Amino acid sequence: MTRIRHVHTGATAVLVLIGSLLTACSSSPGTSAAGAGSCAEAPNGTHIAADAPTATGDIATNPEIGTGYRTGMSPVRTRTYMVSAANPIATQAACRVLASGGTAADALVAAQMVLGLVEPQATGIGGGAFLMYYNAATKSVDAYDGREIAPASATENYLRWTSDADHTPPQPSTTASGRSIGVPGVLRMLRMAHDDHGKQSWRDLFTPAIDLADHGFPISPRMAAEIAASAKDLARDDNARAYFLKPDGSPKPEGYTITDPAMAKTLSAIASDGPDAFYTGAIAKDIVDTTGATSAGRTPGQITLADLAGYRAEKRTAICTDYRTHILCGMPGPSSGGMTVAATMGILENFDLASLAPDHPDRDGGVPKAQAVHLISEAERLAYADRDKYVADPDFVPLPGNSPDTLLNKPYLKQRAALINPAHTMGSAQPGDFGPVPLGTGPQQPEHGTSHISVVDEYGNAAAMTTTVNAAFGSFHVVDGFVLNNQLEDFSSIPTGADGAPLANRVQGGKRPRSSMSPTLVFDRDPDGSRGRLAYVTGSPGGSVIIQFVVKTLVGLLDWGLNPQQAVSAPDFGAANTPVTGIGGEHPDIKATDNGEHDPLVRQLRAMGHQVSVVQQSSGLSALKREPGGWIGGADPRREGAVMGDTR
Ligand code: DON
Repeated sequence: MTRIRHVHTGATAVLVLIGSLLTACSSSPGTSAAGAGSCAEAPNGTHIAADAPTATGDIATNPEIGTGYRTGMSPVRTRTYMVSAANPIATQAACRVLASGGTAADALVAAQMVLGLVEPQATGIGGGAFLMYYNAATKSVDAYDGREIAPASATENYLRWTSDADHTPPQPSTTASGRSIGVPGVLRMLRMAHDDHGKQSWRDLFTPAIDLADHGFPISPRMAAEIAASAKDLARDDNARAYFLKPDGSPKPEGYTITDPAMAKTLSAIASDGPDAFYTGAIAKDIVDTTGATSAGRTPGQITLADLAGYRAEKRTAICTDYRTHILCGMPGPSSGGMTVAATMGILENFDLASLAPDHPDRDGGVPKAQAVHLISEAERLAYADRDKYVADPDFVPLPGNSPDTLLNKPYLKQRAALINPAHTMGSAQPGDFGPVPLGTGPQQPEHGTSHISVVDEYGNAAAMTTTVNAAFGSFHVVDGFVLNNQLEDFSSIPTGADGAPLANRVQGGKRPRSSMSPTLVFDRDPDGSRGRLAYVTGSPGGSVIIQFVVKTLVGLLDWGLNPQQAVSAPDFGAANTPVTGIGGEHPDIKATDNGEHDPLVRQLRAMGHQVSVVQQSSGLSALKREPGGWIGGADPRREGAVMGDTR
């Protein structure tokens, strides 16, 4: 059996469970191209404690916390199929589906259901997702939108006052009250993708998760750390307390075998009857009652049975743009991810980034040059400025000119690039001016609690899916075995900007909050300019910083020739539209002590006017790359992710 090393020492129980799954996987007969060692986690790196300050306490909501960094991870190589998910048990479930001839869509269903158990701080059926899917047979790219929606009755004041007429305190909590909960979208979206692209039976894809829920699984180091960090909030909800805490109120620890019988029942119903078992009937009623509960002083949400029954996933037009010799395809609104990644890369196309590659990158990706970090973070400031003003749910707020092209065409992005001073930061950028539009800029909400899955199957199909409950453990409401999201926090809780103009991302009934999730597919650009072979699959959790994590990875892959493991392992860096530039202090090559004062990169950036933060980053990137003979992939050393497939 392949030897497995894990993120942290002491996760023996996780390893034992994976070991038993491995045996089953490698011994299953008739699997295509899956030899011994398939669906096994490759040995990677060792855990070190980072000396950087953590993000906890710097932001208003419960983030997913940093849990260290695995140094020296090596990439995984496979022949025909590959999956990277945020937890080895989920990766393995998806890998086994691929090994038995399943498609990328099949693998996503199995992985998502397992992730809801082993990574409930990040994702689950009580949340939402975005999915980019490549169908190799038709050469088509679909963008699936499973974003949560606000209840139909929500007004623009839903997140700030008890009602339009009653402004008396307490204000609703935008992170932990029923008001923060949106109508979940994951299941209807996955069913749509499975109807379009699945080969294996919907019901069977639930079996690994139902088994885990019934028989239990060991709490992973990361899940244990998240429970401990959120114990106070989890204790306020009866179901959350009973599931995540011990009878004495202490957090269930790493290695503790946890079972979820309520979830086994829920998953069995959805396996048999499809998503309607969730969106109508007893589970729907439980969601309505839990969201509307007033216990523990919570402001009740207004989700109704009709909101649930009426939820629709959407298939939207992917945003595909040229980047040098490649074509990038990303998610359109209501995610700002595709637009903002494309705008940043389009601005960067005007600079010779290849000449700024890190010198001698090691397995951890090398340290980027200050000039490269400067250019990339300036491009991000300009792109976020447009995103903050113009991008929201397109069903409510059209883009300027009614098309992504207004913000992404090459002459416009060249003008934006000309605003960059190569020697000094602009601090913050102004959005482009597209005449009188009734939209002001407003405050950005911090946002955290997400997972990303990248998959390629033996048929050449590929999927990049980012899936989330928003904050760690969402709204801390648990019902029928699963966590309910707090995704409505992604709306602007204030409806107008400082100038009094309505904000694009204000709350409206039935609207989807703006996201930053950026699942991305990258294709070769054929000599005639058309979309050629699928070349890369990537994405990450990380709230509004996702865009920066994905840009860092794309530049590493496309401009600097890093392999996928180096590209995701390399220091996280970048900026939103503020004077602060982040350099991930958890990386072993960044000297984060004394606020980075002894770090050469940090010092050079400060000399260019950047306000550098070395707070730990908690990206959860994965990247897969086609190469001669198959695929090569990497998983983020900052989380527990693993890459598996028919290894070479
Ligand atoms: O949709 C979004 O952009 C956020 N709600 C995602 C939150 C997230 O990625 C947190 N990650 N750790």
